[in-house]
Amino acid sequence: MRKPFIAGNWKMNMTAESGTALIKELRPLVKEAKCEVALCVPAILIPAMVKAAKGSRIKIGAENVHWAEKGAYTGEISVNMLKEYGVKYVIIGHSERRQYFGETDETVNKRTLAALAGGLTPIVCVGETLKERESGKTNDVLDRQLTEGLKGVEDLTKLVIAYEPVWAIGTGKTATDEQAQETIAYIRKKLSKLFSRKEANRVRIQYGGSMNAKNCKGLMAQPDIDGGLIGGASLTTDFACIVNFDK
Ligand code: PGA
Repeated sequence: MRKPFIAGNWKMNMTAESGTALIKELRPLVKEAKCEVALCVPAILIPAMVKAAKGSRIKIGAENVHWAEKGAYTGEISVNMLKEYGVKYVIIGHSERRQYFGETDETVNKRTLAALAGGLTPIVCVGETLKERESGKTNDVLDRQLTEGLKGVEDLTKLVIAYEPVWAIGTGKTATDEQAQETIAYIRKKLSKLFSRKEANRVRIQYGGSMNAKNCKGLMAQPDIDGGLIGGASLTTDFACIVNFDK
């Protein structure tokens, strides 16, 4: 059985004050949740959010991590720096990082291996652009992102995959339940070829892209969808409705 996992991605939003206030509101609302719950937040907010979420169902994650242990990498954050504050999850290879910050399958791979080696749970993002989908290249893109991004991973079940079609992120254009299910089933099939069937059946795959309080039930009812990576809707108490998708 794969335990559902709902994670928020605050991106470059919130402040220590507004984030603390939101977590305070969310705490009682997600108390009875049966799924795993995380909020991935800007690095500078991590200490304050870990404090705000202490003793609650909400675990705090980061939005990126560097592969080196330490050194001359201005602006980057290491696995140990995250762990020092009790961070458990880290988003890797989000499409915004691929699109605006030169992230490649190779750097996704390096970050993923470093996070795993340090005991963090990577949430590895994959997904096609609208142009790629419309030209029938979705499966090729996913094949490449999975093959290159997960190269050398020893235990697939130690990470989480987030399937985020780029055209659905922040656009209000969610993939239909069927589209999301079909593509995520394809990802699972590909993973069973790259790893083993057993690992592919156990790894959790989230859907991400305009998932909200209204559409989460339908998406979560799909057999291969094990959770969500939530952007916009994780900035309000709507996030609690998604966490409680089964209520
Ligand atoms: P969205 O973002 O929910 O605002 O579309 C999802 C994501 O980018 O992780």
